[in-house]
Amino acid sequence: MSSINSVTELLQNSDQLQSMSDTAVLDTELLLCFALDVDRTWLKTWPDHRPEAIQVKTFEALFARRLTGEPIAFIIGCQGFWTLNLKVSADTLIPRPETELLVEIALGLDLPKVCRVLDLGTGTGAIALALASERTDWQLTAVDSQIAAVNLAEINRQHCQLDNVSIYQSDWFSQVPGFSASPQYHLIISNPPYIEINDPHLSQGDLRFEPVSALVSGQDGLDDLRIVIEQSPRYLHSNGWLLVEHGYQQGNAVRNLFANAGFTAVATQVDYNNLERVTLGCLLATH
Ligand SMILES: C[S@@+](CC[C@H](N)C(=O)[O-])C[C@H]1O[C@@H](n2cnc3c(N)ncnc32)[C@H](O)[C@@H]1O
Repeated sequence: MSSINSVTELLQNSDQLQSMSDTAVLDTELLLCFALDVDRTWLKTWPDHRPEAIQVKTFEALFARRLTGEPIAFIIGCQGFWTLNLKVSADTLIPRPETELLVEIALGLDLPKVCRVLDLGTGTGAIALALASERTDWQLTAVDSQIAAVNLAEINRQHCQLDNVSIYQSDWFSQVPGFSASPQYHLIISNPPYIEINDPHLSQGDLRFEPVSALVSGQDGLDDLRIVIEQSPRYLHSNGWLLVEHGYQQGNAVRNLFANAGFTAVATQVDYNNLERVTLGCLLATH
């Protein structure tokens, strides 16, 4: 690479990423946009533009990080989720497109207009903030055990100017009022860690750069889902819903956990890859 290269020539570096990224061209465009502080339309409009040497140097440094496998979202510090642009950091998971399915399902549930929602393991705040942006009458509470994630979610909340979300630190339900205490929730939603501790994927791709606290959940990947599903009934209104994301091979186990915890209308929905990804259930009895 050199400072005399045009936009088109700089984008040709994507060839070097082909073997390690399915989105080599897009990755290269995003890094160049970041270095030049422009959007992708600008790149298409000005293919012959020759950036300044300092901009090329910045691009080269970013590109070198991508060559080591570091996720684009961590390099540029943000990730799109739903309609929001969220700040991300190595303190929690990069929001995934498949998690938008949780948001979509939640928005389609039969819930009161003024609805109280609890997002467990909020990370960047992705799920809670997406719901809050769509339903301004809803009151959302979002918790995470990691204070760095709580702080990040709060930054995102402020940036998105969403006043109907409160975010605080809690080890699952430990700081959440339950039983007769108010408020209780009409919907509990969670994308908890669900990867088995010995899963070889943990040493591959983006997962290498994300914290274990956001990914791993015991020998069978179900430790956190067990806590969330077993304890949710104490915090849900009757006719309230629990909605969780899980691994594509965990559907059966998760449905059993829902049934054992007293949920009815238990169902699993598939993601855009046709993989079982989200299970939900309704709590009919008053607990
Ligand atoms: C898979 S990430 C999901 C993050 C975000 N909800 C999303 O969908 O992008 C799981 C999150 O759960 C949090 N977490 C892990 N153990 C927890 C616990 N005991 N109590 C609360 N949150 C926890 C992690 O810090 C992480 O932010």
